[in-house]
Amino acid sequence: MHRARQISASPPLRFASIRRWRSGPPVAAVVACLSAVAPSMPGFAQNAPAQEPPKVDRTWTPPEVGALPDDAFGQAVRRGRDLFTATYAHIGPDVADPAKRYAGNSLACANCHLQAGTKKFGLPVYGLTDDFPAYSARRGAEASLDDRLDSCMTRSMNGRPLPENSAEMQALVAYIKFLSTGLPADEKLSGYGSGNMPWLDRAADPERGKVVYARACLYCHGGAGAGIPRSGAITDLGYLVPPIWGPGSFNEGAGMNRLITIANFVHYNMPHGADYLNPQLSVEDAWDVAAYVVSQARPKKAGLENDFPDRLLKPIDTPYGPYADGFSEQQHKYGPFGPIKAAIEKLKAEKAADKKP
Ligand code: HEC
Ligand code: HEC
Repeated sequence: MHRARQISASPPLRFASIRRWRSGPPVAAVVACLSAVAPSMPGFAQNAPAQEPPKVDRTWTPPEVGALPDDAFGQAVRRGRDLFTATYAHIGPDVADPAKRYAGNSLACANCHLQAGTKKFGLPVYGLTDDFPAYSARRGAEASLDDRLDSCMTRSMNGRPLPENSAEMQALVAYIKFLSTGLPADEKLSGYGSGNMPWLDRAADPERGKVVYARACLYCHGGAGAGIPRSGAITDLGYLVPPIWGPGSFNEGAGMNRLITIANFVHYNMPHGADYLNPQLSVEDAWDVAAYVVSQARPKKAGLENDFPDRLLKPIDTPYGPYADGFSEQQHKYGPFGPIKAAIEKLKAEKAADKKP
């Protein structure tokens, strides 16, 4: 079940096969494809990765949670599904038991991992289990699936890690593993991450994005980005529409706060109901509206300067330094990314040459 990984920019050797797969079609094909579309697409970087073509999978649909018997395994998976889709109600900041208030905001995992973690290019979590433990560039060390999940707890959910072996962690892992039922270990499904649309050859523009926001997002996410709460007086029912900035949102260290991730997510999933077969925003509008969202204030996270100890593995759109390449925080945040990518590749090549005897 190996697939393109987004968290480790440059995986160690044993992931060479994944990297080959991720690197996509042969260069000649990409060049041919880019030169074919380039004349009609002014403003897009020539060295951008080709837009991920819809791939045809072996027939696969998510397994049905409701089909499981009411035994220990079935209960754990159901509990995991509930934690995933209604996180706020079980480990949110307003739950009755203070010890269970692990999340710092009232989001649900499924607000970002759409359709309970099964939507293509909606940050799905199927087909993951064989990928962990994996090298995490952010930690500079191996990370287990538990660790990966905790990094969403401390960043996307702006909270604290779930204790190892806690019932909640076990249930979430049981659910994530269950989603891969019936997938052979070497199966490669498509649709991982949030997509891979062409890059702009200019910086994404929050001012232009503000206009797109007013047209395509504001009526749901609101002028202050705060979304629409659904909770009643007694029951925590989370959000009708989740916040995308401000105190109730993910913090600055979250993956969704990186422009390439959020711009693709928005292109392939927003306005709510869009999908990769039917995007509603143009590529350019998606970059600019995402820039507008990341330009807004959100919760801070201490210690971000310690992320990605090997700076050459730091994703180019990480909006906080330090960096290895001398480009400004501003350019890392909004692009253009082409020149940064080229500089990083050069530094990597120099480092590799230095190591040779
Ligand atoms: C604000 C959006 C958001 C929320 C909420 C969120 N995540 Fe994530 N999650 C992401 C993003 C973005 C990534 C990919 C990050 C990257 O590329 O580094 C990710 C990655 C992951 C991964 C690894 C996926 C992979 O492809 O390797 C797992 C597992 C995961 N999240 C689980 C969870 C769980 C469980 C919750 C709820 C407790 C949660 N996430 C809440 C945005 C979110
Ligand atoms: C019709 C209402 C609607 C519109 C319009 C809309 N969204 Fe959303 N958005 C949602 C809902 C609902 C979710 C949560 C998805 C879920 O739980 O299935 C969401 C989730 C998100 C998320 C991830 C969750 C989070 O809390 O960060 C982002 C980012 C986002 N939207 C950005 C945008 C942007 C940018 C636009 C405009 C281009 C937009 N949305 C337009 C309803 C909408």
